[in-house]
Amino acid sequence: MGPTRLIATAPGVQAPNGPHVAGADLTSEPGGDPGDGVEHLAGPVGGGGLRVTSRPIGGSWCGTHRAILVRPAQGCPRIDTVVGMQIRAARASEQSAIETVVATAFGEEPDGRVVQMIRALNQTRATRISLIADDDGIVGHVQLSKAWIDARKRLVTALMLTPLAVAPERHRQGIGTRLVEEALKAADQMGVTAVFLEGDPNYYSRHGFVSGASLEFLRPSLRIPGPGFQVSTLSRHEPWMTGHVIYPDAMWETDTVGLRDPQLASIENALNS
Ligand SMILES: CC(C)(COP(=O)(O)OP(=O)(O)OC[C@H]1O[C@@H](n2cnc3c(N)ncnc32)[C@H](O)[C@@H]1OP(=O)(O)O)[C@@H](O)C(=O)NCCC(=O)NCCS
Repeated sequence: MGPTRLIATAPGVQAPNGPHVAGADLTSEPGGDPGDGVEHLAGPVGGGGLRVTSRPIGGSWCGTHRAILVRPAQGCPRIDTVVGMQIRAARASEQSAIETVVATAFGEEPDGRVVQMIRALNQTRATRISLIADDDGIVGHVQLSKAWIDARKRLVTALMLTPLAVAPERHRQGIGTRLVEEALKAADQMGVTAVFLEGDPNYYSRHGFVSGASLEFLRPSLRIPGPGFQVSTLSRHEPWMTGHVIYPDAMWETDTVGLRDPQLASIENALNS
């Protein structure tokens, strides 16, 4: 499998550095829904990338786990500013560094489940947007892959956001927030109607996500705890675009949809208590 072309959107932006994502030629999609708008994305996104001021973070990190509804430890200092950080499209040559950040953020082995999921999404050309936070090295990553809404009128192209990862030593500096913001902008420019995810509503509600059920979307699996199934509708969304959300094969092949027992039972018990 050779490195191929990039991901996402931002019409009119040139690709001087040829950003890539491994195994996923996503610059065109013959026969696709006109709304999929798979276009080119290059270089910094969001008006030239992020450039703010900062101070270093010290001490131990405040970790989170992928478990839905688990808040990080309290009492860690929040650092809002980062020097010279840029949010931009990932390149194929950066895939290994991305995997390192992701595995570390999720507390997994280098070849852990989330990394396997990323590889499967890339290899099956499901990846549509892959952005990194670059601060003299990769400190965060977000990926959006194809999904569908099985609406009554027709199948509607959407995206699913997973994973979102920030290097543990760089948590609480706003990097996750910037990655989500830029990913949503890129998705909107791409012309898709909605971005779905499984995650903590306490975190994602800050970024415009709401309960999928509240907008009459049906989750792809009953093993996704209700509050964790969230959506951000984009500018092209219309009220009739509701129904079951369909994930790409790679999510099922890697068994990364929802939760399984005993974690699922424990989250459900927490929600019911
Ligand atoms: C979740 C994650 C991406 C957030 O990245 P980040 O750069 O630290 O996020 P930001 O700096 O933008 O926001 C930090 C804020 O979100 C809060 N937060 C982080 N994870 C949270 C969670 N699971 N639930 C609620 N709040 C959470 C932090 O407490 C902090 O709150 P504060 O603003 O009151 O200080 C990062 O913690 C991470 O990589 N975690 C491991 C992987 C993961 O769980 N990914 C999400 C899968 S659904």
